[in-house]
Amino acid sequence: MLEKINQLMEGLKELHAQNAEELEALRIKYLGRKGALNDLMAEFRNVPGEQKREMGIRLNQLKNALQERFNELKQAVVSDDGNQDDLDLTRTPYPVSLGTRHPLTIVQNQILDIFGRLGFSIAEGPEVEDDLHVFTRLNFAADHPARDMQDTFFVNSDENDVTRNVILRTHTSSVQVRAMENAELPLRVVCPGRVYRNEAISARAHCFFHQIEGLYIDKDVSFADLKQVLLTFAREMFGPETKIRLRPSYFPFTEPSAEMDISCNICGGKGCSFCKHTGWVEILGCGMVDPNVLEANDIDSKVYKGYAFGLGVERITNLKYRVNDLRLFSENDLRFLDEFKAAY
Ligand code: DAH
Repeated sequence: MLEKINQLMEGLKELHAQNAEELEALRIKYLGRKGALNDLMAEFRNVPGEQKREMGIRLNQLKNALQERFNELKQAVVSDDGNQDDLDLTRTPYPVSLGTRHPLTIVQNQILDIFGRLGFSIAEGPEVEDDLHVFTRLNFAADHPARDMQDTFFVNSDENDVTRNVILRTHTSSVQVRAMENAELPLRVVCPGRVYRNEAISARAHCFFHQIEGLYIDKDVSFADLKQVLLTFAREMFGPETKIRLRPSYFPFTEPSAEMDISCNICGGKGCSFCKHTGWVEILGCGMVDPNVLEANDIDSKVYKGYAFGLGVERITNLKYRVNDLRLFSENDLRFLDEFKAAY
């Protein structure tokens, strides 16, 4: 009997199964009810008493070794079968290291989401624009300094007729004009997008950045409506304790115009280096749409009124995530981008 056990032990490595049937045949032959192991178990009963202990140990070793070999073969057959039957060439190799959304995308989506809930739909326009949409129809005088080379990137310029100039848009207010052109009134849109200005790149300025423009035109729109929408936005974005303040300002396309500050959410209004120790940070410009703009876009300013606002996505992101250098947004440094894995 010992010889049989040893033979089986030695033969273990020679056992092979190409598929499930062969595996089952092996199981029956060795581990089945009438298999080799059970035969030995039957024989074991007749082993004389003084040999029982040693034989028992040996038999147990065989049993475990057989079971182990069977499991090994089973594993191999299962994964082989997987290859044959369910081979999925489109499957991504694992582990997959997931990318992140860009922080500006995350914040832009948050902003659009808030205004979406307030009834604004999204409108978009081209980045390569003309003077008409970026300046003229927004009530910029022909000699307004914003048209100057220092600010605007010209794609194609005609000094004798500025209105024919093709330029990179310097603000998303141009999408206001496009929205008004195709408008069915009332109109309530937010316009996200990239804008370009001819500025030296530094921690605080860049030649391109991102804005979101808002525009609401209806028969009965007031400055109070604007203020309430902006307050709601500030609190949704920066928390319910956030305060806002509006300072009088000037933009060619709004009258009256204002700039809005929020209580600095980094120091809670106490004063820090981010808010230059004032407790407030400016986040957007806004105002009532100048009647000239409505008229320039064929909207009767005696019947309709509107408000508009424009905010910088980088600025909001800096505040929200304490980013202190604009260049980080376009350097694609994964150490920076990975920090936003948890954000969305
Ligand atoms: N277009 C302005 C800028 O780029 C931002 C702005 C200010 C937009 C006031 C507006 C507004 O709609 O009413 O600085």
